[in-house]
Amino acid sequence: MTNMTTNIGGLKMKNPLITASGTCGYGREMSELFDLSLLGGIAVKGTTLEPRLGNPPPRIAETPSGMLNSVGLQNPGIEAVLTKELPFLSQFDTAVILNIAGHSIEEYGLIAERLDSAANLAAVEINISCPNVKAGGMSFGVDPKVAAQVVSLVKSKTKLPVIAKLTPNVTDITEIAKACEAAGADILALINTVLSMIIDIETRRPLLANGFGGLSGPAIKPLAVRMVWQTAQAVSIPIIGMGGISTAEDAVEFLLAGASAFQIGSINFHNPCAAPQIISGLDRWCDDHGVKNIAELIGAAH
Ligand code: FUM
Repeated sequence: MTNMTTNIGGLKMKNPLITASGTCGYGREMSELFDLSLLGGIAVKGTTLEPRLGNPPPRIAETPSGMLNSVGLQNPGIEAVLTKELPFLSQFDTAVILNIAGHSIEEYGLIAERLDSAANLAAVEINISCPNVKAGGMSFGVDPKVAAQVVSLVKSKTKLPVIAKLTPNVTDITEIAKACEAAGADILALINTVLSMIIDIETRRPLLANGFGGLSGPAIKPLAVRMVWQTAQAVSIPIIGMGGISTAEDAVEFLLAGASAFQIGSINFHNPCAAPQIISGLDRWCDDHGVKNIAELIGAAH
């Protein structure tokens, strides 16, 4: 057995696998398939101050090696999440991470100041990278100054470890990463989805009602590995890597690139039991390769 425990930026986990926000709701459906206590962590759906219905359908589309989504942050709002969803998750021994999003910088602060009352939250993940909303989301994450303002406001409102989730839709992700680090982020998570488009050639219209959507899945893995690698050279805070991880071997690649933990996203739709399979596959891979502690892999590519 490899020691898989992970302790990064104040976030303690029994293993480095986190199910990504937006791919496991608030855990209810997944909990019918396997014991969520097996997970290192669960990042729950992006939550806003008020409930949101999200974008009109169609808002999901498959691509040859991934998927596009334009959900638009559908969620029941922070009050319902605090009173109905997080209490459900308290029965599981896993790190619960709340992903938060806002229309305005102030909205992030108004949500963050309510989080310390939640008994079972392990960290807050600031979503400054959702490509599917007109205000807030990715528009905050493409500007280092605004990204830093959001991080520093959230930091001032909560004692929880703060994760800044970054967008790949920028020229140089390390500039945004450094700004978030300087503003006090404890951890970075990258990458969110890649702004993309599909055109229906029969109707000659965009397939998604919103026009664009975020591409995820195996298609973006090399892009994500490159960005994790570059960011790991540029900052000192830990990185949670994500983008197209579907197997234990994919996860090892992200760890070698410099990630200390990783999230799995699109694969949860294709195989909802992927998480426990990847955790045991990672343990097997480590055994086969003489790795006694998962930390030996972090940033070990050269
Ligand atoms: O549209 C969405 O709800 C996606 C959110 C995200 O990519 O962060």
